[in-house]
Amino acid sequence: CVVGLDIGTTSIKGILVDEAGKVLERAEYPIKLVAPNPGWAEENPEDWWNGTLIVLKKLSAFAKEQNLKIRAISTSGQMHSLVAIDKDGNPLHNSILWCDQRTSAECDEITQKIGGRKTALEITGNPILTGFTAGKILWLLKHEPEIFHKTYKFLLPKDFINFKMTNEIVTEHSDASGTAMYDVRTRSWSNTILGILNIDDSKLPKIVNSNSIVGTISHKIASELNLENNTIVVAGGADNACAALGIGVTVPDTAMISVGTSGTVLVPTFKNEPDEDGKVHLFSHVVNNVNYYMGVMLSATNSVEWFNKIVNFNEYDIINAEVDKIPIGARGLFFLPYLNGERTPHNDPNARGVIFGLSSAHNRFDIYRAIFEGVGYGLKDCFVSLKSSGIREIRITGGGSKSKVWVKMIADILGNRIVKVSSTEGAAYGAAILAFSALTGIEPSGISNKWISVVESFVPDEENSKKYEKNYVIFGQLYNLLKELFG
Ligand code: XUL
Repeated sequence: CVVGLDIGTTSIKGILVDEAGKVLERAEYPIKLVAPNPGWAEENPEDWWNGTLIVLKKLSAFAKEQNLKIRAISTSGQMHSLVAIDKDGNPLHNSILWCDQRTSAECDEITQKIGGRKTALEITGNPILTGFTAGKILWLLKHEPEIFHKTYKFLLPKDFINFKMTNEIVTEHSDASGTAMYDVRTRSWSNTILGILNIDDSKLPKIVNSNSIVGTISHKIASELNLENNTIVVAGGADNACAALGIGVTVPDTAMISVGTSGTVLVPTFKNEPDEDGKVHLFSHVVNNVNYYMGVMLSATNSVEWFNKIVNFNEYDIINAEVDKIPIGARGLFFLPYLNGERTPHNDPNARGVIFGLSSAHNRFDIYRAIFEGVGYGLKDCFVSLKSSGIREIRITGGGSKSKVWVKMIADILGNRIVKVSSTEGAAYGAAILAFSALTGIEPSGISNKWISVVESFVPDEENSKKYEKNYVIFGQLYNLLKELFG
């Protein structure tokens, strides 16, 4: 069997998967996010590694008990977050995360030095955005020069974990393409951008395919985890790309909606042309030579979790049942889910969350309903920005997709049928597919086609869709009216 790991923002997840794609065991370890300043978001890479060891220990003990052999491990991880390590492999700074918004000035500087936004799009496939890695490296140079100069390699989260397991330093195309340092035309690091950051490619990992073998697990880790010395570690991929593979979204006529900490809408493509408006990203898939377009909202389930903390409540059965009883429109409430700024469609690091329309008659479930609807409208913004035609099937994944009430609501808001598939483990399952692909030589999409089937369908109701359509217009107006007042 194989292990699929996911280095997520809220937890480290691991699953043990057999040759038929069946999940035999799972383990999870929570991760603490720190926000030293508003708009900042950091995590300690050592926490990820400790969590990974705990998760792997549990899976390895289960495998031993069942007389199973773990033959390969592959990892998916949060995209864009920067890990700076020294020569001994120790992190020199907390990881600056994908949802951190501190780098506006650095992103403007890179864009200006490169010759403008159009050139940035041509080279990297994307505008230079605060979420991406390049701005974070320049920020270190400007604000933590000692750390910058001490850095031996700049890595991404799952590459740091692969390094800890094998002592090998590599990345792969899906994560490299999210750094704003990757040239989509040559599928390699862009020397133009590296020059602007004052680094050369010796500071970055070499780029391999997502189903390439990185190496075998180190003897030390193998004995600590009770694993065989010849257990292989496979490169893995960016969490959104792994999640897409993990629900069988690998070709352009299927799309993924992921309702996780962030919300994403992803459509694979064989094209290499950036979105002219720069509203949706162009990145490499974990399936070799396939790319994808993706709209990203920064706070999806994060919005619900934020509110859970405020009202000190997290009984999802009750939240779902109560939300379902409240009519469309949340009795006049609107929620703008911009708690961490927003990418698609606004690319606005200064945008902030808003609850609009409160009266003394409202209760917490009205607000929950407004949050569900606001995230739904944010996903619609992503979907509209993708301008994709010819999508045959939309598959949904992520923690939020466990709520049938929410999935039906999203289908109504989009006015499109949405399906759920047999695999429910998200990005970790895509990582397991990559591990299996490396072991067997079978293409990842061949494995996902075999392992995954559609199990449930959510069909939009025309009347509901019309009501949401009206409110979607107001949702858009609210941002336009408020944008000057943010930040
Ligand atoms: C995608 C993005 C997020 C993270 C979440 O561009 O920033 O979806 O990958 O882990």
